[in-house]
Amino acid sequence: MYCTKEVQKDLIWIGGNDRRLALFEGTYPIPRGVSYNSYLLLDEKTVLFDTVDQAVSRVFLENLAHTLNGRALDYVLVQHMEPDHSAVLQDVLLRYPDVKILCNKKTSDMILRFFPMDLEGRFELVDESSTVNTGSHELHFVFAPMVHWPEVMLTYDATSKTLFSADAFGTFGALDGAIFADEVDFRRDYLDEARRYYCNIVGMYGTSVQNVLKKAGALDIAMICPLHGFVWRTAEDIAFILDKYLKWSSYTPEEDGVVIAYASVYGNTANAAEILACRLRDQDVPVQVYDVSVTHNSEIIAAAFRWSHLVFAAPTYNGGVFLEMDALLRDLAEHKIQNRMVALIQNGTWGPTSGKKMREILEGCQNMTFIDLMVTVPSTLKQAQLADLDDLADVIAATV
Ligand SMILES: Cc1cc2nc3c(=O)[nH]c(=O)nc-3n(C[C@H](O)[C@H](O)[C@H](O)COP(=O)(O)O)c2cc1C
Ligand SMILES: [Fe+2]
Ligand SMILES: [Fe+2]
Repeated sequence: MYCTKEVQKDLIWIGGNDRRLALFEGTYPIPRGVSYNSYLLLDEKTVLFDTVDQAVSRVFLENLAHTLNGRALDYVLVQHMEPDHSAVLQDVLLRYPDVKILCNKKTSDMILRFFPMDLEGRFELVDESSTVNTGSHELHFVFAPMVHWPEVMLTYDATSKTLFSADAFGTFGALDGAIFADEVDFRRDYLDEARRYYCNIVGMYGTSVQNVLKKAGALDIAMICPLHGFVWRTAEDIAFILDKYLKWSSYTPEEDGVVIAYASVYGNTANAAEILACRLRDQDVPVQVYDVSVTHNSEIIAAAFRWSHLVFAAPTYNGGVFLEMDALLRDLAEHKIQNRMVALIQNGTWGPTSGKKMREILEGCQNMTFIDLMVTVPSTLKQAQLADLDDLADVIAATV
């Protein structure tokens, strides 16, 4: 049975929620599910803004037929070809043989790569100079290359001042009946998931995001409709999420505070991390502690984008760094983490080298300031290391 939500009087959300998928893109845990948003504009012409993932195809196709209510589907607009939004495109093209595909040239090439169909005469290609008039609405297009695929395009409806933002401004988490961010306590309940979504999926393309934010800054935006999560419609909420994107895409910390990520085989490196956390809290410094063997990298990467100081603590492992820590640091470097203060704690019983190795990985990142004081734990903590941890806490607290 159909399940739709009115976004504007002639714009209907016809997407779906997946609460069963364990790993988004085969990588990211989504314990609270994910929504695949699709919007149908009911103007003189009807326009479908993207489709959905295969997982919710059934309810989506029912939503589409119900909302069209016997009308023809004139256009399907494809802003992004990643299958979480385009898997059902082929079904739409087969069910609505007269529908025209509105997209850019790169997207049309990708559609043919995904779907072996004869689409001769079905494309209406657009670029940034195009205007599509659907009756009372006027659509303009903003190219967003590498946010986070090369063909990505945003759409601006100049009539309703709505920005259809593709994956930008989206969040993990299924929609619990609400469609607008102002219907829920977004900052309390969803901001962490929005950050985890952005930082992990788009995080490494900060420069591309900054370019699009500049273009978006020239538009008068009353509503943002992303492909995952909530629609943004109050001026305050739109300013809030734009500000977060400005910070995340420029790798600027949101807040002063410390992430301590540790790895530990026998518990001694963990012991050092816990003590440091206590010493920092004693000086009123906000701290978040993670065991990298337990917490998924995506959580720690999001935390690293949020806070100003990063402490990594790991045992030496076969002459290198404990594996999960090695993987986390490489993942962080790939996500282009920058502009952070970094401190390191190493451990080793016969030849500690993990500190040097961790530093080598992070030296590939831009504008990282390493705190010179590296604490070495020679298997277990002794009085001398307690003094070192106190000193490290003082140095960190002085720069927070
Ligand atoms: C598989 C394995 C490989 C290790 N390789 C090294 C090494 O190359 N050099 C070293 O000094 N210690 C090595 N160690 C020892 C640990 O780094 C050391 O015991 C450390 O104190 C463990 O810290 P933890 O108590 O936080 O687990 C290794 C331990 C394991 C289990
Ligand atoms: Fe995507
Ligand atoms: Fe997506």
